[in-house]
Formats: sequence, C-alpha cells, structure tokens
Amino acid sequence: MSISQEVESKINIVELASRYLQMKKAGVNYKALCPFHTEKTASFVISPVKNLAYCFSCHHGGGPIRFMMEIEKMEFGEALHALAKEAGVELKTDYYKERGEKTGDIYDMHRIATDFYSEEILKAENIEKLNYLLKRGIAMETIDRFKLGYSGNPRELFARLKDKGFTEQNIIDSWIFVSPGRDKFYGRIVFPIANFAGHTVAFTGRITGTWEPKYLNSPVSDIFNKSAILYGFHLAKSTIAKEQSVIIVEGQMDTVALHQAGIYNAVGISGTALTKEHITLIKRFTKKLYLCLDGDKAGVEATFKSLENLYNEDLDIYVISLPDAKDPDEFIKSGGDFREETKKALTPIAFYIKEGAKRYDIAEMTGKKAIWEELKKMLKHIKNPIEIDAYIREIGKILNLSTDVLYSELKSFREKRIIDEVNIHNKFDRVELLAGYIRLYVLFDLFLEKFQYTLDDGICIPSFFVIKNLFSKRDIQGKNEEITHSEDTDRFSAIELYIEEENTTLSQDVITLKFLELVGYINKLCFEQEKKALLSDIDPNSAEYIIRHRELQEKAKNMGIKMNRG
Ligand code: UTP
Ligand code: MN
Repeated sequence: MSISQEVESKINIVELASRYLQMKKAGVNYKALCPFHTEKTASFVISPVKNLAYCFSCHHGGGPIRFMMEIEKMEFGEALHALAKEAGVELKTDYYKERGEKTGDIYDMHRIATDFYSEEILKAENIEKLNYLLKRGIAMETIDRFKLGYSGNPRELFARLKDKGFTEQNIIDSWIFVSPGRDKFYGRIVFPIANFAGHTVAFTGRITGTWEPKYLNSPVSDIFNKSAILYGFHLAKSTIAKEQSVIIVEGQMDTVALHQAGIYNAVGISGTALTKEHITLIKRFTKKLYLCLDGDKAGVEATFKSLENLYNEDLDIYVISLPDAKDPDEFIKSGGDFREETKKALTPIAFYIKEGAKRYDIAEMTGKKAIWEELKKMLKHIKNPIEIDAYIREIGKILNLSTDVLYSELKSFREKRIIDEVNIHNKFDRVELLAGYIRLYVLFDLFLEKFQYTLDDGICIPSFFVIKNLFSKRDIQGKNEEITHSEDTDRFSAIELYIEEENTTLSQDVITLKFLELVGYINKLCFEQEKKALLSDIDPNSAEYIIRHRELQEKAKNMGIKMNRG
C-alpha cells in the first residue's frame, strides 16, 4: 500500500465532505449540490463504500486527497500532508520544509509564537487581558478557536525560538520582533492571522487601553499578502461552501463576534476594501456575498470601493447596513439579531439609492435626476445586459421612473463616453487610428461612403497620406489582400494592436460607431479647410459671401457637423 493509499484508507470521505457540503442520504450513498459547478439538482455523489466524492455532471472530485485538492485548491503534497496529519500517518517528508527552508522556518516561527501567545493569555498574571476579551463577550471556546493570545513576555518567546534552533537574525527577519528584547505586539492582545490552510502568517495586536494605534499589524512579507488574506477564512470556508454565502466584515473583532454569535461564514478584511484577490478566493467557494462594513463614512466608502471591484464578477452581491451605523460586534452586543439583518440586505442598487437619499430628496424630481446621474456612472461599468436590465428595472421601481426612459438615457450616455474615449487618444494621431480601423476591420468601402471628400481633397489634413497610401496599396494588390511589408508596417501593426486591445470587449456595432466618429472627425477637418479656402478672401459683407456661407452651412448640416462662426 502506498503512503497516499494508507492515508486515504484512514479518512472517512463522508465526514470529510460533510465539512463542505450539505448532504442528503440517498440509498447507501449521499448526494449534494456540486461544489465545483453551479447546479439546481444534486449530481454530486458521496460513496462511503468506494470512499469517493464525485460529480457526475462536471466530473470533478474523487478520493479524499483529490477531493481535498479540488475543494481547497491545494497541491497534491499539501492535501496529502493535511490529511496525513488527520489520519495520524507520519510522512517521511514535510511538505512545507520541501517548499523551501526559509518559508518553512517562517511558518514554524509564527506557529511557535501563536502557541506562546495563547499560553500567555491564560497565565494568572495576565488575567486582566483575558478579562478584556471575556468582557467583550468573547467566550473561551472562541478564544481557543481563533487562537487569541497576549504578548506579555517577549524575552521568553525569543528564548523559545532560539531553543528551537532559530538564529537571532532569523527571528528579527521574521518581523515578529523589533529587537531581541521586544516583539512587535508587546502589551497587546494578539490575533493570529492565518492563511487559507490555517497556518499563521501574520499577527495583529490590539491595545486594551485607549492609546494609539489601536491595532498594530505585521508588515507584508513572503508569507503575508495583506490584500489577499481574509481574516478567519480557514475557519469559515467550510460553512461558506455549505451555506453558499459569505459575509464580509471589517476587522478582527467583527469576525470573531459573528462567529461567536454562530455566524460561521463571516470573514474579515483589514482596513481596506475587498480586493480582486479576495474575490478570486471567495469565488472558489460561493457566488453569494454579503458586505457588512462599518456604517461610518470610511466604511461606506470602503463599501463603494468594494462594489466597484465586484462589478462583472458574476456574483450575487448584497449589502447589509446595520441600524444606527453600528459595526457587527456592537450590533450583536446591543442584542441585535444579525441573521434578521441578513434577510434585509440591500442589493447594490438599493444601497446606492439609500446612500444617495442621504444627500438628495428622492421624492423630488431634482433628487431623482441627481441620483440617476450617479447610478449611470456605476452602470456604465456593467457589461452583462441581463444585469443591466435587472438594475434598470430596480431603479425604475425605487425612483418611480419609466425603464424606457432610463434605457435610452443610459444608451446616449454610453455612446457619449465612447466618443470621449475616441477624443482622448493621444498615443496615435486620430488620422492614423482611422487608417488602422480601415485596415484592421476592412472598412475601405464604408470609409469611401462616409468620407465626404475625395482622397485627394484629404491631403490638406496632416498625416492623411497614411490613409491615401492605404488605398493606393489596396488598389495595386486588390481588395482585402495583405499589404506587403514596408517601412510603416511596424507602425501599422502597433496601431492595429492598440485598437484590438482597446476593442476586445466591444461589439461590432460599437466598433463601427467608433470608426464613424473618426470619419466624422476628418470630415470636419476637411470642411474647415474648405471653408477657409472658400471664404478667406471674400468680403464678409458681400452677397457672394452670404451665398457661399449658406451653402457651407447646408453641407455642414448634411455631414452632421456644427459649423463654427466666421
Ligand atoms: P475599527 O476602528 O472599526 O476597529 O477598525 P474595530 O474593528 O471596530 O475594532 P474594535 O471593536 O475597536 O476592537 C477597523 C479595522 O481597521 C484596522 C483593523 O483591522 C480594524 O479591525 N485598523 C484599525 C488598523 O489596522 N489599525 C488601527 O489602528 C485601527
Ligand atoms: Mn468594533
């Protein structure tokens, strides 16, 4: 029997899977909704006899190690290591040691420090520190679960680390210590911050008094990427998978308080908004996310920022705003029922409107318009038409406006934005860009149709020769033929690449619209030249001038351009 077979034989797949799934008995087997793809009817089967957890729809899953690898996104070695520990099987090699001595050491140091701080808080001399937590309503069981501790004796911790074979330099390099006599969290309640797999990678320390700063955090390091870590995730992930939702709160105390209240799918961000890295991690487990950040100004701003990162992520998003701007910890302590608040959670649109209503009177037309202006800015980021549709309906309902009007308003807003985008091109000149569009999307004929002048007329515009060359080459080589390599081929390739990059997500219609904008631009340039030529040496008071001016005006109107005075 191989070592992995031995480990697997000692792991009960039903018990393992039940940590992540809500399972129902179906004959000798169990069934659950597949954690690896979205489905409405359960096709994930857990077989105790075969010791297998497998999806017959998406074909993910397998034995305990495979299941663990996939559900935890672990490498083979890491999953084996984790299960071997549970099974009580000793492995010859240590997965973390193998990944590099240095990383292993830092993990070890953090583990030793975590244990040390945990022991410290239980010492009689530190009873006041323990009481601080107990008074805040944190039970012993929760303290244990989150491995909360206290740093009261840095020298002893330093000595312990040295005993374990770490050099002074190693210890200082770990960022836990600032000097041999002093760890960074001295005198503070310590919250170990664990990674996905439950290994401590950093700490945050809270003072029990009133001085500043209230919290001190480990710096970003080889093992601690602050913007990717969610506090408590290792404890919450199985509930997140099981309940198919996650609650995001701000900070350690709120996370701990929610778990204490039986809300085990809560995780914390630390003083930042939810990042794209956080979102990637969450999406492996669930598609439903509740944001419950602080109700103060900073918290509302962080909520807006987080929502921005959540656009187009294909998640169901809700915002919980607690009464009286309390944070979850305060809310629970004041006797509030958090689950009830979850049920009252707002959609992002409702949240935007609720926040907007603090500044505008949405019963009034001016207020409705002002809020709509802000909502438009948000809607312009949304790509999925189904989402846009749902949002517009919701806005129409809350603000009591017709969705037709909102749609057409949004459409012209989006188009205007595209035009603005075209106008800010600075990398390439707009005439060059136009040439790029013509060649890349083979718009020769459309160009000739929309350009109001001849190719020879165009030469009055700087760099128009690029377009002219394009046409003469096409005429030589025949339509749609690849143009042979010449000096400006590289420049052209760069322009085309630029256009392709910029337009990847746009539909053909929008691309055509951008193209037409560019044609409109050179039409206007040519027109200005023509106007100059026709009017420049004529007396502005003569009858001839007035006639020509009128003709030009007519022409401008047909081209859809606005004629400047003079
Ligand atoms: P808060 O000031 O809202 O603290 O900061 P809190 O979470 O309610 O904590 P308690 O209830 O006073 O104990 C929110 C988060 O911002 C970070 C922490 O992660 C904190 O949880 N923060 C705050 C710091 O990193 N440093 C600070 O000095 C303060
Ligand atoms: Mn608080």
